[in-house]
Amino acid sequence: MKKRTVKPSTYLSPVPAVLVTCQDKGGRPNILTVAWTGVVCSDPPMVSISLRPSRYSHGIIRESGEFVVNIPPVDIVRKVDQCGIVSGKRVEKFSEAGLTPVPAEKVSPPLIDECTICLECRVREIVPLGVHDMFLGEIVATHVAEEAFDSNGAIRMEIINPLGYSAVDRSYRAMGDALGSYGYSREEKPGRR
Ligand SMILES: Cc1cc2nc3c(=O)[nH]c(=O)nc-3n(C[C@H](O)[C@H](O)[C@H](O)COP(=O)(O)O)c2cc1C
Repeated sequence: MKKRTVKPSTYLSPVPAVLVTCQDKGGRPNILTVAWTGVVCSDPPMVSISLRPSRYSHGIIRESGEFVVNIPPVDIVRKVDQCGIVSGKRVEKFSEAGLTPVPAEKVSPPLIDECTICLECRVREIVPLGVHDMFLGEIVATHVAEEAFDSNGAIRMEIINPLGYSAVDRSYRAMGDALGSYGYSREEKPGRR
């Protein structure tokens, strides 16, 4: 494929768009949309979120040391957009977006009932990178929607149905259909180890 060189850009796209919840000292919860998130370690299980210091949530998470990464299914894309264009400084986003807070198990920020997976996190480190600070969070509890489990206890990704965001054209996208599973290429070649 012949390529055109463009300016260095964050075109690792699409990436999951998540709803991060936090809670201030007075017990007031907030939500913000985050696309700069990722898995950074399997054991201990850790994820990162990168936030601009100007976000209201940045100060709350820095002070409380806790956040929850909530994975929205594609059907609540409009609510995800809403939480990413207004600040909790002025707006109660749970009621504004019509989302339901549910108490978490180990941290103070609430889970979002409408999300299919919720990862409770404690901040391990904050790494200043440039316009974003990266919060490294250790996952201390993981919650998966009951309806996502099949009768064998396996989690059906069709129900998790995560939402993607593409920085290339600033679009929301479905993450797509299953194309194969880990190691399937080897299974298709008999005799090869
Ligand atoms: C799709 C999408 C992805 C976003 N990703 C990020 C992100 O990764 N980091 C960030 O700091 N802000 C991101 N934002 C912007 C914040 O969600 C937005 O500024 C929000 O209003 C901040 O809320 P707060 O002031 O209540 O914390 C994103 C917004 C959208 C719509």
